[in-house]
Amino acid sequence: MNTEAAALWSSEPGLTQRVAFERDVVAGLSSEAKTLPSKYFYDTAGSVLFESITGLQEYYVTRSEIGILSDFGRAIGGVLPSKCALVEFGSGSSRKLRVLLRTASSIEAYVPVDISADFLWADVVKLRRDFPRLAVYPLVRDFTMPFHLPQAISSLTRVGFFPGSTIGNLEPSQAGNLLRHFGGLLGKEAILIVGVDLVKDPQTLTNAYDDARGITARFNLNLLKRINRELDGNFDLGKFQHLAFFNAQQSRVEMHLVSKCRQDIRAAGHVFRFDAGESIHTEDSYKYTVESFQRLAGKNGWSPLRVWTDGLYSVHALALRSSCHVVTRSTAATDGESYESADGYYVPRPAW
Ligand SMILES: C[S@@+](CC[C@H](N)C(=O)[O-])C[C@H]1O[C@@H](n2cnc3c(N)ncnc32)[C@H](O)[C@@H]1O
Repeated sequence: MNTEAAALWSSEPGLTQRVAFERDVVAGLSSEAKTLPSKYFYDTAGSVLFESITGLQEYYVTRSEIGILSDFGRAIGGVLPSKCALVEFGSGSSRKLRVLLRTASSIEAYVPVDISADFLWADVVKLRRDFPRLAVYPLVRDFTMPFHLPQAISSLTRVGFFPGSTIGNLEPSQAGNLLRHFGGLLGKEAILIVGVDLVKDPQTLTNAYDDARGITARFNLNLLKRINRELDGNFDLGKFQHLAFFNAQQSRVEMHLVSKCRQDIRAAGHVFRFDAGESIHTEDSYKYTVESFQRLAGKNGWSPLRVWTDGLYSVHALALRSSCHVVTRSTAATDGESYESADGYYVPRPAW
């Protein structure tokens, strides 16, 4: 790892992640309808389980997206600026970057941003081995929070890359805020390539999140294991059941962990009461049409450029509207609700 990347790597305050996890778990399990944020699925075991999910027959999402990125690779490469830095939000195994690199020769630097620190680091070692000419600057960050991009890419036009249908994990108004946040972070002339899962028949959708081999169930239950390990919890995994279904009204697949009996659970120094049949809502995966996603992007600073689809899944190329990345320093500096983006501009802090 070069020195700059090493500095970025070690600057992540591990304690803060732990404190945020505790705060969110206590708040989520104390609320009347219990919830846990899906970003906490991704400890190292969760990231490995997610990789197994991507190979499942039922999980068409990864297959479709890789198919689109391969089949339309030249066209996708064609919308990228010359000499660009690709910033992947929630990079996981960076598998899709590898597909893009086959046709997109203008990518000079890669900034994988992920919350799953050890998994990211292992991936970066492989990327540096396989692509020695690509400059790689990993960032362990929660991409929903304000952060800075590495100075080393400041001379390159920024391309955001947000595959994996991760945008679907946010409720649409939050997804809109995230698109604005990415605009502020990436700066002028930015392009965003985003993978968006499409509405389809409920059975195909449900199966994708409830596979016959039970890998998605293990992925979901791993969150309780993580709470046991990191927050001194005593969840008995055998007493919770994985549940996934399509909520047509909200256009989302929901994942839950359902208590099989009345039980009291201790975690982070608190006791949480569960009735039999009571659930913890652990993930949403919103499904869009091409048009509904383009509308969302359009309302949040991005103009649709191109879209590629195989009928199941879509990959959108969006261009940042020039009015949407600059808020002048003098205006923003006085409002206390802003932060500085990598290129020195202030952008409004999203209201999460
Ligand atoms: C659905 S996976 C997608 C992985 C990869 N991009 C792909 O397309 O296969 C989501 C990834 O985003 C990461 N992630 C989820 N929420 C995050 C957050 N708030 N901040 C940073 N990374 C996050 C997870 O660790 C995981 O690697």
